Parts: sequence; C-alpha cells; structure tokens
Amino acid sequence: MHGKNVELREAVMRFGDFTAVHRGDLEIEAGEFFSILGPSGCGKTTILRMISGFIEPSEGQVLIGGEDMRGRGPNNRPTALIFQNLALFPLMTVWENVAFGLEARGVDKAARRKRAEELLALVDLGGQGGKKPTELSGGQRQRVAIARALAVEPSVLLLDEPLSALDLKLRQHMRSELREIQRKTGVTFVFITHDQGEALTMSDRVAVMNHGRVEQVGTADEIYLNPKTPFVATFVGQQNVFRGKVAGLEDGMAQVETPLGRFLGLNGDGLGVGDDAMVFVRPERLGLIRPEGENCLGNQLEAEVEGRELEGPFVNMFLNAQGTPLTMHLTNSAEAPAQLAGQQRLGFRCEDALVLRAGDLADE
Ligand SMILES: Nc1ncnc2c1ncn2[C@@H]1O[C@H](COP(=O)(O)OP(=O)(O)OP(=O)(O)O)[C@@H](O)[C@H]1O
Ligand SMILES: [Mg+2]
Repeated sequence: MHGKNVELREAVMRFGDFTAVHRGDLEIEAGEFFSILGPSGCGKTTILRMISGFIEPSEGQVLIGGEDMRGRGPNNRPTALIFQNLALFPLMTVWENVAFGLEARGVDKAARRKRAEELLALVDLGGQGGKKPTELSGGQRQRVAIARALAVEPSVLLLDEPLSALDLKLRQHMRSELREIQRKTGVTFVFITHDQGEALTMSDRVAVMNHGRVEQVGTADEIYLNPKTPFVATFVGQQNVFRGKVAGLEDGMAQVETPLGRFLGLNGDGLGVGDDAMVFVRPERLGLIRPEGENCLGNQLEAEVEGRELEGPFVNMFLNAQGTPLTMHLTNSAEAPAQLAGQQRLGFRCEDALVLRAGDLADE
C-alpha cells in the first residue's frame, strides 16, 4: 500500500436527471486522515458510497490501491464503512459484535475472540468484551463500531459522520481518539463531516464540497488561509466580505472599488481591471485604528458598533458599515474596552485581504 490509495477519476454520479456528484477527480493518499466537508446534500455520502461499492459511478472510475473497482461489490473491496447512524447488534456481546465480520470469513471462534480482544484493546476497551452494547456509553459504543469495522482489516475505513449522534463533549473527546486509532493502525481514514472544527482539527487534508463539486483540497492551514473560492472562504470560518469591482492592479495585488472605499488585497484569482470581485477579511485580521497610535493598516473604513460578545480571552465586536455587517475579533485587553461604542475607524493590512472573483457564498 503505497502512494495513492483511493482515486476518483472523472467520476460522475447521476440519479435520474439529477447530478449528485459532478465530473471530478479526487486522490487520497495511503495512510492519510482525509476529511470531506460540506453542507447537507452536497454529495458527501454519495462519494463514500461510490468508494465502498454500494453504488457504481454513472461515468468515470473508482480505483483503490491502483485497481479499478468496477463490478466489485462492497464485500469485495478493501474498504469498511461506518454509517451515519451506527447500529450494534444489541443481543450480542461487545466482542461478538467486533468479531461479526470474521465468522463469514471462516475464522474459528477462539481466533475470533482473540482478534476481537486485540481490537478492543486498540480502541481502549480492553476487558470489556463480555458486556452488552447497552452497558456502554455512547462514546464506547462508537469505539466498538470502529473496532468492528477494523476487524476485516480494510485498507480504507470510510466514516460517515460517525460522531454526529454524540453530545458535544464526547464528540470532542472522540476526535483525538479517532486520530489516535488512525495513527496506530495506519489505515486510510476517509471521514465525512459537516462540522468544520472536526475537519480542521483531525485531518491531514480536507476536501471542501459544494453542490456536488469538490471546490478545494488542502491542509487545514491551506483551506483557512488560502481559500480558492468565495464558498470555501465563507464556509470555513468567518469572513467579512466587501463586494466591488477591480479598479487597479499592482504587484500581485488588486485594488477593489467598493461602496465603503478602495481596498487593496492579494489578487488570488488573477483578476483584471473591471472584474466583479469580493474582498475577504477574517474577523481576527480586522483591528481598531487609534488616532494617537501608529498604524500600518493599509485599508481603512468607518463602522458603527452594534454589539459586543465576551468570550473570555476574546471579544467579538459586531459593527455596521453603511449596511454591511462586520465582525471583529479582538483579544480581551486594553485593545477591546468594554465601553467601545459609536462610530469607529477600522483597518486591515493589505496582506490580510484576499480578493477573489465574485461568486456564491456559503449560506446564500
Ligand atoms: N439514491 C438516490 N436517489 C436520488 N437522489 C439521491 C440519492 N442519493 C442521494 N441523492 C441526492 O443526492 C444529493 C447528495 O446526497 P448525499 O447523501 O450525498 O448528501 P450529503 O452531503 O451526504 O448530505 P448530509 O450531510 O445531509 O448527509 C442530495 O440532493 C440527495 O437528495
Ligand atoms: Mg450524508
């Protein structure tokens, strides 16, 4: 198992005349923790079902370990799938659940039990094999499901929102557990989620999907710092968005004329003068301009303070600039006085502003 483990080549999935996944390529490396992130209905589960063999692509190919999987059903692929709503067999013990897939493969009972105990130890449930699933917590049941999926020694484990049924605290705990299990086994994990925190914290790389298309694949840093489309820019993290037209170009930067003034930012799409553009600035890159202080914030604007939310170490300020809502994220220091109100002058560095071709935003 080297190099590419899972590949979609020009794969398309249509249901009748509806295209759930548009033609595209996707490459997942062997041993990678790879997440697919996107809003409900964007095609995440459809991609997993194509990889696992529950459906065949309408066009194009799915390759695993370099082999074309066409015509091979789920039981004949080196994959295991953990569904959106997992179900353990309630009448079986925990170890019987884990060993379930091994009986069909002709493994005898003693060997099954031994293998189940090894896998239970791996997921930190050593010695719990004799219990019934109802005697376990939600997070423990989740780990039994993972052990059961790993029992058939897949080279790819496909996880469809496996944490969505758990409460917030358990979900956060399971993030590091899953990551640890992946590291210990070296199995390729393809993890689906619509929770960006999950995707960013757990993954080696993330694919961001929208309307049946993968818009960007990259590390968490690449996706957050260098989004390639307005959708990715606004789906992952928060943004302030200014719309306008490119009015000038200089040195990899574009000057955008907006109703709030001219802003200079990185010309991410290589736009030309006259193109419709959007300027994106993260709330943590927006700052207050102090009349008395020095500032090197190349872009400036006026906005009215409308609200303040204390997060403890941070403060979210909500402002309005002639109808454009803005969010500013400040550290809770002298920089963010509690009584801050009225009209304020804000600014952001040109290097902290990203100019992209105007397009659909998330939540539009
Ligand atoms: N068997 C099917 N027949 C017809 N349409 C389908 C079928 N399976 C999925 N779809 C449609 O394809 C689109 C993508 O569905 P999919 O289940 O892949 O979304 P998803 O990204 O997993 O969403 P969620 O986050 O809600 O699980 C949806 O519009 C869905 O209605
Ligand atoms: Mg789904």
